[in-house]
Amino acid sequence: MKKGFLWGSSISGGQCEGGFSSRGATVVDKIPQGKTTRFKYLNDPGIYMSGPEGFYPSRDGVEFHARYKEDIELYAEMGLKALRFSVLWSRIFKDEKMVPDEEGLAFYDEVINELIRNDIEPIITTIHFDMPFWVAEKYNGFSNDEVIELYKKYVQTIVDRYHDRVKYWISFCEINVMNHALYMVGGAVPKENEDREEVLHRCAYNMLLANAWLVRICHDIDPALKVGCEVAGTPCYPLTSSPIDYELMIKNERSNNRYTDVMAKGKYPYYFLKEMDDYGVDVKEEDLKFLSENTLDFIAVSYYKSSLASHTGEQSNPCLEKTAFGWTIDPQGFRIMLNNMYERYEKPILVVENGLGTYDEVVDGQIHDTYRIDYLQQHIDQMKLAMQDGVDVIGYLSWSAMDLVSTSEGMMSKRYGFIYVDRNDDGSGTMKRIRKDSFYWYQKLICEEQEA
Ligand code: BG6
Repeated sequence: MKKGFLWGSSISGGQCEGGFSSRGATVVDKIPQGKTTRFKYLNDPGIYMSGPEGFYPSRDGVEFHARYKEDIELYAEMGLKALRFSVLWSRIFKDEKMVPDEEGLAFYDEVINELIRNDIEPIITTIHFDMPFWVAEKYNGFSNDEVIELYKKYVQTIVDRYHDRVKYWISFCEINVMNHALYMVGGAVPKENEDREEVLHRCAYNMLLANAWLVRICHDIDPALKVGCEVAGTPCYPLTSSPIDYELMIKNERSNNRYTDVMAKGKYPYYFLKEMDDYGVDVKEEDLKFLSENTLDFIAVSYYKSSLASHTGEQSNPCLEKTAFGWTIDPQGFRIMLNNMYERYEKPILVVENGLGTYDEVVDGQIHDTYRIDYLQQHIDQMKLAMQDGVDVIGYLSWSAMDLVSTSEGMMSKRYGFIYVDRNDDGSGTMKRIRKDSFYWYQKLICEEQEA
């Protein structure tokens, strides 16, 4: 493994931070928990606005805001070399007046300083499904181009403040997930009579420009800063040898990669440009120029599963096992995805999420999560094979450093962490942190990798 390889883990503000009373609301603060219904809310908050009062797990998260010192101590004990977290725009600017809140800024100063004191590289995501609620409500999120200016002000403020200590910046979490969760990623909801694809393309156009602004702002302050945008890397296999399945697979891959194509290559692929035209988005020459001048330094990828293309609508890959939550388990797909991304972009890749979300059981105060260790080990092995193939991977950040509120269901019991958090789906629990077996396994792995 290369010297300086970033062995680490990830968390996000909307899932961890809590501290709701000292900040403005984010979009996920308004979404109740619900195993079967939550994804509908993530797409259309109109449902919750008319829906029943529920339990809103992101308002507490796992109290990282109050417990960050204790948590970072645990990360340091594990030996993490990097931690990715998101800054909450709604903590820096509590409301639409956009007056910076010194207490909010100071909070992330402390988090960053604490990480650095513990020899952990801080990596910031500017929006991780946690855009301020008012941006979504007042502007319909990024579907409105005025939000680019607001985003510029937000990122200028945090880059100015933290650039001396934070080298790696990620604009958005899993930008391609807007294909099926437009509200959660872009803060936008189609109005009645509005075509969803039209809104999605408008949103994409503006987010791609916003990303380019983050690149520009970072590089203007310090050309050594590195900027990425995260894409959910989900390789797609055709179910059969039918040309129809193959064509569907290509469509699927294009719809997922089209955003990164623009941000990494600085130019719209022909089919995406055509789509923009079809959906009435006014593509301006000056914007194309700006995009071409401000491209990503690295590609941030998450990897959990692969998908299937089939004209029959079949979604279940007969060759692969699934997690308790129905996600395919496909370590080899990780190697395939890393190779595909590197071939496509020829830029360093930072793996920013990979992990197993499942139920854990506490037995006599311990959590024997061998299934998580197996999952992670198999994926790391495949990443190493991809590196032997020649892929330039600069770091591996698992999801997640500790248990947190799951995105798809809002559940706590779908756990990903190395550190168990005593918090239940209904909000009960002490929030006590307990080291799982995987904590010691990752600690040993990092230590051995450092010495190798
Ligand atoms: C990624 C997100 O999509 O997957 C995380 O960036 C999320 O926020 C993770 O938690 C796992 O998904 P889920 O829905 O199981 O929490």
